[in-house]
Amino acid sequence: MPHTDQRDENQHPDQQPGARVHREVVSFVRRSARMNPSQQKAWERWSPTRVVPVETRETSTSVAPQPVPDWDAIFGRHAPIVVEIGSGQGDSLVPMAKARPEVNVVAFEVFEPSVASTLSKLAREDVDNVRIVIADGAQGLDLLFEPGQVVELWTFFADPWHKARHHKRRLVNDDLAATVVRQLAPGGHWHLATDWADYADWMREVLDQAPGLRNVHAGSGGWAPRWDARPLTKYERRGIEAGRDIHDLTYVVDGGDT
Ligand SMILES: C[S@@+](CC[C@H](N)C(=O)[O-])C[C@H]1O[C@@H](n2cnc3c(N)ncnc32)[C@H](O)[C@@H]1O
Repeated sequence: MPHTDQRDENQHPDQQPGARVHREVVSFVRRSARMNPSQQKAWERWSPTRVVPVETRETSTSVAPQPVPDWDAIFGRHAPIVVEIGSGQGDSLVPMAKARPEVNVVAFEVFEPSVASTLSKLAREDVDNVRIVIADGAQGLDLLFEPGQVVELWTFFADPWHKARHHKRRLVNDDLAATVVRQLAPGGHWHLATDWADYADWMREVLDQAPGLRNVHAGSGGWAPRWDARPLTKYERRGIEAGRDIHDLTYVVDGGDT
């Protein structure tokens, strides 16, 4: 069942008074997760077949070590696996998965009402090649796939965490880079986009020196051209309207043909 209680925006949902919960540094804050009636309806109709339950640790979003799920059985077919971390309301996920029916897409998102909205879009667009895991995607990428099993990763408009004391919460960091190198197939691509220049520079600093990753556009300034597979979402539009430049980045895992 989804969380439906109202909570303080900064309190972790699993932190009940008196409970001893180890707080991890994570790239998200789970806000109050009340669903509107149409989200509730979509959740009830579609989550049993589209949301993949995983074993969690102390908090409901932290992934426990466990046998790797049988993704072929879950999707009902064998196909290359693409992962998105932070799929939000599915504004990129749904059209991008629809445009690539030959891949199986596993999306990680922690905010259940956004997942419910995504479920509704998937149904409306008749997209069947997406499954969603409600958990921390950095941990999920690490623990829920065999090394080299993922062919591509998307992280679009990740929360910027502007304050210096919050930089440790940024999704893109050395640990995620190491996970990507281990879990993506050689030659696999990691596509990123952000509307925040300071986060874009941070991504370059972290990823340009990450062992096993190569910036595909290193020879031409390091920034990727806007990836035309990526639809214009509200985050990109908001950034543009506020006068910010959008930065795309593409990295490839060493060892492939590309
Ligand atoms: C700013 S939104 C962008 C959503 C989407 N990528 C888009 O462009 O429309 C970032 C989303 O990432 C989710 N998120 C942040 N860190 C995450 C993590 N480690 N695992 C899964 N979801 C995460 C947040 O809940 C939020 O919905």
